[in-house]
This record gives sequence, structure tokens and C-alpha cells, in this order.
Amino acid sequence: MKNIFIAGNWKMNKNIEEVESFFTSLIPKIKERDLPENLKLFIAPAFPFILQAKVLTKETPVIIGAQNVSEQPKGAFTGEVSADMLKSMNVEYCIVGHSERRKYYGDEAQNLIKKMRLLQSNKIIPIFCIGESLQQRENDKTEEVILHQLESVLTEFNINSAKELVIAYEPVWAIGTGKTATPEQAQKVHALIRKWLADNYDEQIATEISILYGGSVKPENIANLISQNDIDGGLIGGAALDAQKYVKMIDIVKEEIE
Ligand code: PGA
Repeated sequence: MKNIFIAGNWKMNKNIEEVESFFTSLIPKIKERDLPENLKLFIAPAFPFILQAKVLTKETPVIIGAQNVSEQPKGAFTGEVSADMLKSMNVEYCIVGHSERRKYYGDEAQNLIKKMRLLQSNKIIPIFCIGESLQQRENDKTEEVILHQLESVLTEFNINSAKELVIAYEPVWAIGTGKTATPEQAQKVHALIRKWLADNYDEQIATEISILYGGSVKPENIANLISQNDIDGGLIGGAALDAQKYVKMIDIVKEEIE
């Protein structure tokens, strides 16, 4: 069965009190609900709060992960956080290649490969993000860009099971803009990604891997998005900062998949 994710990417938001108050409001609501086993509730706070969030969500199904990782294994790299450090906190998933990292911090294929290798050797599952810019979409380059982003990183990896990788399709023009790809636009790209996986890994991995959509996902549009065949949940920024909206999305997705 495919895993369906409600994955929150908090980016550089929430301080220690705000992290606490989010989970204080979320956890009782989660405990009241009977959640399907394949519904994965994931949240990536900023690095300093991973442990706090892990403690607060102990004995709940919430999975706490990271937004980024260093491409270096260890040593004199001021300000960086290694895959080994994440592993030592039992982090299971880490976002890599988010468009904001690509745009502001120079993440591109060569260092993403290094990051993914370190995650893989530490048994942390990458949530690998890809997506085209508005200009690329308007120039009819979406397919080419997506295939290139997949090709340039994923061909370096062997994957033995669909549970070793999550892919997030996030059209750059839809992130934080309030503009969402239509379910049909998103589905088309998701199907393309799945086909690439079938051609380059194998059918079973392609069928079972979770491909998330990201870009202005919110309670109002999540049902239509995940009702598409190849959309297995969302990678959510803004709407995942609000515990009530997060709970709403849980209820909507739960109803869609049950
Ligand atoms: P958004 O962000 O939901 O605020 O558009 C999504 C993301 O960047 O992962």
C-alpha cells in the first residue's frame, strides 16, 4: 500500500514557544482520531527544535524530520548539520533539493547527490523535491525540466524498495504564492515522474513510491489534489504552520483514502 503524506515544511518559522503551542494543540486532536496506517503525518521544524518536537510528539504517530542536511559527513563546516547528527536524533526523513535551497543556497545536482548519499548511508529517507519555474512552464519546458531533475540525481542511486525514497513535485510558481497547480496539471507531472521511475528503477517501485504535491496546498484544495491517481499527499508550507488547518487536512485526507 502506498504511503500518503501530510508533510509540513515549516521552513524558518516558529520559535521554541510556538513549536510547543502548535503541538499542544495538535496532539490531543491526533489522539482522538483513528488514523489509517498508511497515513503519514510528517513535520519538519527548524534544526534547533527537532529534538523538542520529537519529545512533544512521543507516543503519537507524528514523524519529525529535517528540512536539509549538509553535503559533508563531518568536520570544519561552520553552521552545518550532518546526516549522522540527524540519525543520532532518530530522524527518519529529510527534505532535500527544496526550490528555496536551490535558489538561495546553490543546491543543485552535484551537491544533492552527496546529500542523498549521506542520507542513504544513514538510513534516512530523502524527500526529494523537484519542480519547474513559471518561465519554464510558460515556455513549455516543464517535462524537460522535471526529467532532467530526476535524471541528474536519481540515476546515481540504487533503490531496493519504494519506501527508501519520497518524491515531492513542487512547481516553483505555486510555492508560497497562493497559486496552486490544478489537480490535472499536477497529475500530469506526477504520472510523468512515475513513468520515469518505472523506466529507470522498476514497475513495482514506481507503483508504490509516494509522490507528494507541494505548492499552496491547504484544506480547501487538498481533497481534489489527492483524489488524483498519482498524488500521494502534500508537502505543505504555510497551511502546515496552523494546527487547526493541519487537523482539517488530516480529516479530509483520511476521508479520501479510507
Ligand atoms: P507552501 O510551501 O505550501 O507555503 O506553498 C510549500 C513548500 O515550499 O514546500
